[in-house]
Amino acid sequence: MKIVLLGYMASGKSVVGEKLAQALKLDYIDLDSFIETNEGMSISEIFSEKGEIYFRIREGEYLQILLNTVNNTVISIGGGTPCYGKNIEFIKEQSLSFYLKASVSTIFNRVKKEISKRPLIADFTDPELLKEYIAKHLFERNNYYQKADFTVSVDKKTIDEICLEIKERIPN
Ligand code: S3P
Repeated sequence: MKIVLLGYMASGKSVVGEKLAQALKLDYIDLDSFIETNEGMSISEIFSEKGEIYFRIREGEYLQILLNTVNNTVISIGGGTPCYGKNIEFIKEQSLSFYLKASVSTIFNRVKKEISKRPLIADFTDPELLKEYIAKHLFERNNYYQKADFTVSVDKKTIDEICLEIKERIPN
C-alpha cells in the first residue's frame, strides 16, 4: 500500500505523515527530504541556485522514482507537487491519496512564523500581501488538490484526529 498526503504548504503533511505511518506500521518518506538527500542541497538552495523550473523537473522525476520503487509507505509530497506535469495523474494511478485541506487563515498563521524557510514566500514583508498571495495560490491549486481520492479538513483538528479520519477511509 502507498498513501500520498498532499496539500498546501503548512497543511501538516509531514507531521501527519509520520504519525500515520507509525500507526499503520508503514514506512514514511517526505518527498522534499528525498530530493534534498539526492541533490545534496536544501530546497531553498535548489530554488536560489538552480531555479524553480529545475526544481519542478527534478520533483516530478523523484516522485516517479519513489512511487515506482517503494511499497507499504506513507509519502508526504510538496505543496506544488500535484500541480505540475502529470504528477497528479501518476499519484492517482499509484497510490491512495489524501488532500489535507487547510483554510487560508490556518496556513497564514502557520507560515508567517517561518517565512524564510519557504522559498516561494520568503520575500514577503507585508503580512496582508502574503495572505492575499496564499488565498490566490490556494484557489489556483485547489483544482489539483481536489483530485485526491479523499479530502480531510485539518482546521482546528489535532494530529491524532486527522490520522483517525484518514485511517477510517482506508479500505481493508
Ligand atoms: C512548495 C512547497 C514546499 C517545497 C517547495 C515548493 C510549493 O513543500 O516543495 O518549497 O510549491 O508549495 P511543503 O509543502 O512541504 O512546504
